[in-house]
Amino acid sequence: MANTQLKPHAILFALPYQGHINPFVNLAIKLASKGFTITFVHFEFVHRMLSKSQHTNTNNVIDFFSEARNSGLDIRYSTINDGFPPEFDRLNNFDEFWTSLLQDFSARVDGFIGKILQSEQSMVSFLIADTFFSWPPTIAKKYNIVNVSFFTQPALVYSIGYHLDILRENGHYPLKENTVEEINYIPGVKSISTKEFMHFLKEGEIKTPQHEASTRAYQEVKKADFVLHNTVQELESEALYDLNKKQPNYAIGPISSFLTKITVSKSLWSESECTKWLESKPLNSVLYVSFGSFAQTNKHVIQEIAHGLVLSQVNFIWVVRENIVKLDCTNILPDGFKDEIGDKGLVIPWCNQNMVLSSLAVGGFLTHCGWNSTIESIWCSTPMICYPIEFDQPAVRKLVVDDWKVGINLHDGDLIHRDEVAEKIRILMTGVGSLGLKQEIEKLKNVLHKAIEKDGSSDRNFDQFVEDLKAKIY
Ligand code: UDX
Repeated sequence: MANTQLKPHAILFALPYQGHINPFVNLAIKLASKGFTITFVHFEFVHRMLSKSQHTNTNNVIDFFSEARNSGLDIRYSTINDGFPPEFDRLNNFDEFWTSLLQDFSARVDGFIGKILQSEQSMVSFLIADTFFSWPPTIAKKYNIVNVSFFTQPALVYSIGYHLDILRENGHYPLKENTVEEINYIPGVKSISTKEFMHFLKEGEIKTPQHEASTRAYQEVKKADFVLHNTVQELESEALYDLNKKQPNYAIGPISSFLTKITVSKSLWSESECTKWLESKPLNSVLYVSFGSFAQTNKHVIQEIAHGLVLSQVNFIWVVRENIVKLDCTNILPDGFKDEIGDKGLVIPWCNQNMVLSSLAVGGFLTHCGWNSTIESIWCSTPMICYPIEFDQPAVRKLVVDDWKVGINLHDGDLIHRDEVAEKIRILMTGVGSLGLKQEIEKLKNVLHKAIEKDGSSDRNFDQFVEDLKAKIY
């Protein structure tokens, strides 16, 4: 029997990508504010990036963590080495990086947790790791700690990954190239087209480390004691209802900075200042364009978007990350583009997205449908134009456009054309059709806001999780 006088102590391991780090940091703050002791672990290379990046008007998460105990939050901060030298490019050597995470990383985690357990006064009682790590069941068993998995994408995507055995029985996994079928047998998922599946389920991806890591993770998560989801019950009730029959799942989203009400920047890259420019623009007149932190496209897509933005004549902020296209990233914008747009547009390498979306000047979001971007957009009542690229993004597009009707499609595939881009932007920003989108997104926004208020569904689920967790620990 554990000592109930000691505060429960959790070790949190986030996947080293912006779209995963953000919800993990917010979860850490939320748990600490409920009285838990938290040890938050970043990869060393993530720590270096966070330390170097400049942030607009907000506290850097590293400073925040180091000072958290002064403000009554028991958060300890630590780093772990991934075995690669600092200069190793983990994005462009994705396969090598993931092979190593799959093969060698669990020994590092094992040593790391072993050391904490030896040295700590407080009881380390549970682990919260990203669902895409596959080592937690082994480590949790070895050290006799509770295994909590945190899934940062929608429950719809979790349901697809969770039911790979059923997909295999029905001949839809591995997914044959160029076949598209509508299927309706995944528990908790009414109907979905196979074109919305995560790309690593395709036949051609079977030998990639990403396929192996993801499919192994979806197997291993079945051994977790609890699964947390960055979604909202009202938004994905059927999928969650089914998942709960198998394992305790808790929808506690949106786990964004809006949840913690503490503004801490977790940006891995320096944020450009856009507030003054935004303040000079009329209400709802600005389109925000961003493809998140990781997805890459090609020069043709970037050029057609650039021409489309000019043709549309709307104001815009466009995040063009330095690695937004694969391979050759030089001169990706059309010649003379920046002169042509003048003060109508701001092209920047990175920004504080929550600040931009919260601006009253922003009226639309051209997005790759990353899950964080999607919930942040809904939270701010900003309708979307969807251009999914990979991973969970095609499934998120389905939710946004087909199910919730808070966004429109840009184009299916790489062959987009500037006229279509301009037309979709005009529809979203000024068209009659956008009225329906705005009404729907306002309703969804209220659902999200209510969910995290006192006695809202996520608030209750969070409390229930804490209660169930304590019952398991003590
Ligand atoms: C990845 C996957 O691609 C995504 O589909 C998955 O759901 C999570 O992991 P990413 O592509 O980066 O994430 O997209 P997203 O989920 O939208 O996360 C990006 C985060 O970076 C958001 O929280 C967004 O606010 C932030 N961001 C993005 C910035 O702060 N500034 C920027 O300029 C762009």
